[in-house]
Amino acid sequence: MKKFIKRALLFVVVIASLYGVGRLIDVTYGSYIFVERQPYMVMQTPNSITIKWQTPKAEIGALAYGFSQNNLNHVLLEESSSDKHSITIPKLQECTKYFYSITSLSMNIDNEGRSFSTLCKSTDFQRLWVIGDSGDRGAGQTQVYNKMLDYIHNDFSQLNMWLLLGDNAYGSGTQKQFNKALFEPYKELVKRFVPWAVTGNHDARRWAFYDIWDFPTKGESGGVPSGNKYFYSIDNANLHIVMLDSENPSLDKDSDMANWLRKDLQANTKPWTIVVFHTPPYTDGGHKSDDDFNSGGRMGNMRENFVPIFDKFGVDLVLNGHSHGYERSKLMINHLGKSDTFNAKKYLVQDNDSCYTKPLKAIQNSGTIYLVCGSSSKLDSATLKHPAMPFAYQKMGSVILEVTPTTLTSKFLTINGEIEDEFIIKKDNSTCQKEK
Ligand SMILES: [Fe+2]
Repeated sequence: MKKFIKRALLFVVVIASLYGVGRLIDVTYGSYIFVERQPYMVMQTPNSITIKWQTPKAEIGALAYGFSQNNLNHVLLEESSSDKHSITIPKLQECTKYFYSITSLSMNIDNEGRSFSTLCKSTDFQRLWVIGDSGDRGAGQTQVYNKMLDYIHNDFSQLNMWLLLGDNAYGSGTQKQFNKALFEPYKELVKRFVPWAVTGNHDARRWAFYDIWDFPTKGESGGVPSGNKYFYSIDNANLHIVMLDSENPSLDKDSDMANWLRKDLQANTKPWTIVVFHTPPYTDGGHKSDDDFNSGGRMGNMRENFVPIFDKFGVDLVLNGHSHGYERSKLMINHLGKSDTFNAKKYLVQDNDSCYTKPLKAIQNSGTIYLVCGSSSKLDSATLKHPAMPFAYQKMGSVILEVTPTTLTSKFLTINGEIEDEFIIKKDNSTCQKEK
């Protein structure tokens, strides 16, 4: 009998070891397998930008740029030969549009329409396109994208920024899956805009996400230097955008991410603050924020440990994905419990449906809108009954944000091209018309 138990144990150990080795090989392969990749942009700052691409053969990368598409009169060459290319263009003018092209001997580069803009200190108007859980390539993803193109009349000059709320490449965020789900379907956008993305649980299954992107950990794009690729912020004109990694091992209230966030928001002087991460504090979609066992408890962690920070610094808007639907709150504070503890009288700052007012300078407990948009390529079945998220639609779509120095308008643009939900936050001392 003893012999049998010993043999059985040995068998289990061998199988577990083989599985572990196989899994390690699979993760490493999916993370670092080499793929060809057309040029894309990272590290947008007021004075520089980095262009990355990957060619089938090692070669010296060459980049030309200039103010006009017909006069790319500056040329930068890499110092050494490689198949993974990265060129940073320094000494650019802030808030300025440039055109660029890449030359390769081993790959056809699609240079048609390539341009970028540097970050701005101030502008009168910005439009952002926000997509969540967009990494399922298919007809739904394409149609959601096409409705945004219709909205801007196929005129990319009508768009200023592009935000991705995580789960950017299903099923596991491998290098190949990122090509298929992001770089190929959105190729015209990738040519012109930095894909500012947070990581989702599917992206976090491989290490490709942090191989593809370089992030401004030294405060290059604005905000307090984080010294950490998992969280950083971006200042663009009137916007302060904070990017957090809710897949981060520690989401404690005294974690490095939380401590940095307090410092960053304390130093922020921009009129609008948006915080972006993947797992929503409030959702009754495909994922349930009431379920402590769902998603490793990350939704509850973000609610209990980070909502008090958003309240303290008067964050205007929190954007999340993860649940594949659309859900949106009213202007609210301090709701740290589960959905059955929600009380509109206690937690709502303003009980309006679509118009909210806030002071121009961020102050404590002035309220935050929470918005989940995880339906940019797929849908779940869901009950959508979270009392804090009364505006909820089980439809595919994306979000358009339109921002002036004193107003922020958010529109849920569905796969059918309808604006299903819209609200405005005003900081211009005007009042909202009575809605009820
Ligand atoms: Fe997710």
